[in-house]
Amino acid sequence: MRSGFAPGSNIGKYVGKLVLNIPSCRMINRVTSEAIRNRKNSRDRITALTAYDYPTAKILDESGIDLILVGDSLGMTVLGYPDTTHVTLEDMVYHTRAVARGISTTLLAADLPFQSYGSADQAVASARRLVAAGANAVKLEGGQRCYQQIRAITDDGIPFIGHIGMLPQHVLEEGGYKIKGRTAQEREFLRQEALAVQEGGAFALVLELVESSVAAEITQLVSIPTIGIGSGAHCDGQILVFHDLVGYFPWLKPKHVKPEADVSAAIRDAVRAFIQRVRAG
Ligand code: KIV
Repeated sequence: MRSGFAPGSNIGKYVGKLVLNIPSCRMINRVTSEAIRNRKNSRDRITALTAYDYPTAKILDESGIDLILVGDSLGMTVLGYPDTTHVTLEDMVYHTRAVARGISTTLLAADLPFQSYGSADQAVASARRLVAAGANAVKLEGGQRCYQQIRAITDDGIPFIGHIGMLPQHVLEEGGYKIKGRTAQEREFLRQEALAVQEGGAFALVLELVESSVAAEITQLVSIPTIGIGSGAHCDGQILVFHDLVGYFPWLKPKHVKPEADVSAAIRDAVRAFIQRVRAG
């Protein structure tokens, strides 16, 4: 019988008000968007990782991670596309369902993929599909340009995470994954983006590849927690692509990641050992 807390995790400190009553279990406390938002004024940094399947989600949940994101990075990490622009809403729904089945306590967010939020109505319809698949929150890329969509999602009662800085869904227009905020103009743009996301009702804001001093400034500027990826140490939390953290996508090694494991080497070793054992008879 689970109390809702993974062994050794400190997640109990951060649970919000939502308490699920499940017959035959005592109670499982879920991390809520409100609890994540309240971490803005806490010294405990928010920890977040992506997951795209049931076993990974279950392991991350049991490890005590605060937030799991079904990121559209799954386009590269599990579907083999060159970038995220090929990912469909159906892909996101399918993977969100699998991840949701593995989670007991962690907050589950899912990405709205490319071209799934062209208008406010489309954004709400797409967000509802992800929520129906098990997401507790959704994220989309962009600030001022997407203000109507963000507002419509939060007005619909769906917890929302913003994402500004380098926007992978725009990688083709932008010609690569480049640090943002190196010029005065970019810095001012990022500040306006952050304020637009906050004004839209987001409970947290991902800063991707934002120059570290600008990320620190935005973290001071907004009242919602910032969650950085490749944006320096001064955010309220950090998020990574799970495959980068554990060395499960060895063909691309982003500069901002310090891998904590070499899963691809472990898999190669195991497969070679199996081949040898079978061939040896
Ligand atoms: O798709 C993704 O993985 C993301 C990152 C912020 C981790 O959006």
